Amino acid sequence: MKDKGKLAVVIMAAGKGTRLKSQQPKVLHEIGGKPLLAHVISVASRIVAPADIYVVIGHQAEKVLAAVAATGVAFVEQTEQRGTGHAMQCARQAIAGYENILVLSGDVPLIRPETIAEVWQFHQAEQAAMTILTAAPEDPAGYGRILRKSPKSSEVEAIVEQKALTAKQQSLREINSGIYAFKTAPLLARLDLLDANNANEELMLTDMAGLLRAAGERVVAIQAAETDEVLGANTIAELVALDATLRANTASRLMAQGVTIFRPETSVIDAEVEIAPDTVIEPFVQLLGRVKIGAGCRIRSYSVIEDCTLGNNVLVRQSCVLAESTIADGARIGPFAHVRPGCEIGEDAHVGNFVETKKAKLDKGAKANHLTYLGDAEVGERTNIGAGTITCNYDGVRKHITRIGKEAFVGSNSTLVAPVTVGDGAYVGAGSCITKDVPAGSLAVGRAHQFVKEGWATARHAGRQKE
Ligand code: UD1
Ligand code: CA
Repeated sequence: MKDKGKLAVVIMAAGKGTRLKSQQPKVLHEIGGKPLLAHVISVASRIVAPADIYVVIGHQAEKVLAAVAATGVAFVEQTEQRGTGHAMQCARQAIAGYENILVLSGDVPLIRPETIAEVWQFHQAEQAAMTILTAAPEDPAGYGRILRKSPKSSEVEAIVEQKALTAKQQSLREINSGIYAFKTAPLLARLDLLDANNANEELMLTDMAGLLRAAGERVVAIQAAETDEVLGANTIAELVALDATLRANTASRLMAQGVTIFRPETSVIDAEVEIAPDTVIEPFVQLLGRVKIGAGCRIRSYSVIEDCTLGNNVLVRQSCVLAESTIADGARIGPFAHVRPGCEIGEDAHVGNFVETKKAKLDKGAKANHLTYLGDAEVGERTNIGAGTITCNYDGVRKHITRIGKEAFVGSNSTLVAPVTVGDGAYVGAGSCITKDVPAGSLAVGRAHQFVKEGWATARHAGRQKE
């Protein structure tokens, strides 16, 4: 047998997740904006190299694989899901050659690398064949229970699944987290002894505790200090509870780093969000995906920011929606602004009320303060875009670019029909429809001439009174 190394990690993730009643495989359900399995993989990656992580996939395997393939982990297929013991039988080839393995569950996402490291240390110190991570939650319902040799002993007799608990065993409070360390050889030697003659009618990895004990092998348990981190997500309610725990942890971490989050229980902050000190997050803000916010910013209520990078001292006023864009130092956004993907909002630039931008680049100090659409547009330094300006970027077939130079002035209610360029320092008269390029330093007015008929209204009025 080829020697593969001292330790591999197996993540069991093939199950359907029947109790979620969802079309989506369980391990792809998200908490903190990230799939359950992705959380477990990132923890495992802190313990061993991705090539030594084997993810057992089965139900909607292709979808699960596609979601996490970029992490570089290896996959094992369990075509038919006949239980956690069967999942391990499917991983037999993969794990053979490693001295030990750690087993994690794809639906236990809050586990910390420090805790796994403790399990691994304990497993080695105890020279155990199997080490079980346990916990003692308030409500142990639904979990397998740990039957210790005696209350004080670290040795375990067996794991008893919920359905198999005798009346007397109902009082057992210590639960099986589904996270284990095994010496590979004694595990492999007994995998075929598992059978489905149990209340779950499955091949259960939990039965390995009793099997190893019966063979005189050492089976031990170590209890986690924090119960939260070993809880599983089997139902939507459990999933939502784990999401809340994770988000509360994220908010606490950010506050410890100097970020003010008012009423953190109302905010939705994804796990990978980074925020520098002295930034204030007001209630009911959502920060989703990869959001990076600099120092001294203020994000006001009801704004939703997704996959964006904000510099320092940025102000996002109430009710803004920002996606896949970068906002430079000192910029001011909103209220009620919509910054769509592909925007670069420059230093000290303003994107004001009811302004929508898409693939728009506003240079330093550029301003679009009211009621404007800037799509596929470039706006130079210190240029002012008047209220109601529209870039007509779409001709019904293709998108075109509008280029506006620096220190230009676009009068209110103008339409700029792309492709079109307004040069540096040029003026566009209010209400213009601009279809031709405007040279630098010039004035363009593209609107109907105003005519005035003096006395017209008075005469009309007088006529009406005679009738
Ligand atoms: C399992 C344990 C239980 C423990 C609990 C902790 C067993 C029999 N029971 O129960 O003692 O308290 O975890 O969370 O192991 N999976 C596969 N292939 C399968 C079946 C499951 O890969 O054929 C995967 C699932 O996708 C899941 C994990 O294994 O990620 C655990 O399976 P699940 O059905 O959730 O087990 P529990 O009933 O929670
Ligand atoms: Ca589970």
